[in-house]
Amino acid sequence: MNPMPKPAEPGKVLYTQVYDYLLDRIRRGDWKAHDKLPSVRALAGELQLHRLTVFRAYGLLKEHGIVYVKEKSGYYVSEGKPHDEPAGPEEARTAFSILPAAGAGENARAATRRGSGRLQNALSEIHRIPVLYSFSQALIDPNLLPNLFLSDHVKQVFDRYPKLLGTYSSVQGDEELRELLCADLQRKDKLQVSSDELLITTGGQQAIDLLAGVFLRPMDYVLVERPTYSSALDCFRQRGARLMPVEIRKDGYDLDLVEAYMKRHKPRMFYTNPTFHNPTGYTVPATQRKQLVELAERYGCLIVEDDTVHDVYFDEPPPPPIYSYDTEGWVVYLRSFSKYLAPGLRICAVAARSAVMAPLLTAKSLADNGTPLVNQKLFQHCFESVRLQLHLEKLRTALQIRRDVMERALAAGTGWQCYRPQGGLNLWVRLPDGLHDDRLMTESVRRGLTFVPGTICDPLGEMNGWIRLSYSFMNEARIREGVHLLVRLAEELAHSE
Ligand SMILES: Cc1ncc(COP(=O)(O)O)c(C=O)c1O
Repeated sequence: MNPMPKPAEPGKVLYTQVYDYLLDRIRRGDWKAHDKLPSVRALAGELQLHRLTVFRAYGLLKEHGIVYVKEKSGYYVSEGKPHDEPAGPEEARTAFSILPAAGAGENARAATRRGSGRLQNALSEIHRIPVLYSFSQALIDPNLLPNLFLSDHVKQVFDRYPKLLGTYSSVQGDEELRELLCADLQRKDKLQVSSDELLITTGGQQAIDLLAGVFLRPMDYVLVERPTYSSALDCFRQRGARLMPVEIRKDGYDLDLVEAYMKRHKPRMFYTNPTFHNPTGYTVPATQRKQLVELAERYGCLIVEDDTVHDVYFDEPPPPPIYSYDTEGWVVYLRSFSKYLAPGLRICAVAARSAVMAPLLTAKSLADNGTPLVNQKLFQHCFESVRLQLHLEKLRTALQIRRDVMERALAAGTGWQCYRPQGGLNLWVRLPDGLHDDRLMTESVRRGLTFVPGTICDPLGEMNGWIRLSYSFMNEARIREGVHLLVRLAEELAHSE
């Protein structure tokens, strides 16, 4: 059995390319609503393709409501573009305006239905705002990292590999590093994986982007959690995919709904972050993990399991990854190490079977021909050291203390509620009634504080009564000060109404 969804099915490649090409030109305004498209014969001649190929592309545009047919006349562009606004000036918005303005929910809903094709990364815009209290960064405070140890290692690694800077890595990643990670994933997480099934990418973000590039075409459906990691949403939107939200709750998903969506809409992938989920902190239980794999197999949906904070747990280790239940190759597993070892090295391991690995490798070679070897070797030597375990244990304790400090500081305000995560870097916080993330964000930025607004984590752009606060980047004193400031701002806003 070869169950993997191909990047594009043989014989379909060409007409979906023509479809993409026409969609792109309509988006760019080459043809406006009710303009007639070139005849099948003319376009086939222009593109030097068979008429049937163009005919099928037009058929797909019609099926998606992008064009309509006039009897004996031809194909015409439907009312309403396949995206909400032209790209361009929109991208030049100021940092404050990352929060969708009034009506944004509608835009997000439309983009969710049709895919937007817009190039944006709302989270990255927030990170660019210079502030004193950064609760938006889900990054480890550099003071919690073993910095002296890391710098000692740099010297040792260069002594051991004097020609390190004079060599490329292989596209797939350094063999020794892959062997090491493979043994670790087998031993600690019981993953059935070989070093051929691992790819080293430049962070988890690159892995998401490569997977989206390989597997998604405009108008494809992607199942996503609601809420979820906003940069993944932006990535899928940019490919023109349609997002299909599935609520994530403390006890996981409504699997009947997931099944109904898979059956009805045949989504290409389900992007999940089931362990200490970003932003909620929830962990999907083991029973559901197993069931998800069964659903993926039954309906031919690729599960992309993003596991960025697997090792950052407080009391109990999390359940085994979804990947551990997969025998047929329907799960791709992303294990980034940015969140606890050396974020600057940007190392992520992607585990996938050969049907997925082959196109991924091509995409990786087109993107950068391989993650820098020096980063991989530095990472390898830190990762295999005994000191790493010690560091991890200390880090877990330090982060747990910071989580508690943040929780207590929030409890001093009126009407703030949050879930207590058992791992990870974030608190998902319900704002006091009537307070919206955009108003609070505007005021907060003015006073030197950032957080992640719920709106951008929501594929529908509606969760404006929620925010994500990271407790990992600021020390305890800053957390207390910052949260007190936030609570005060909320009270001021409530009184100014
Ligand atoms: C769920 C999730 N996936 C991926 C990433 C990106 O990871 P990296 O920093 O390794 O690119 C993040 C970073 O915050 C994340 O939270």
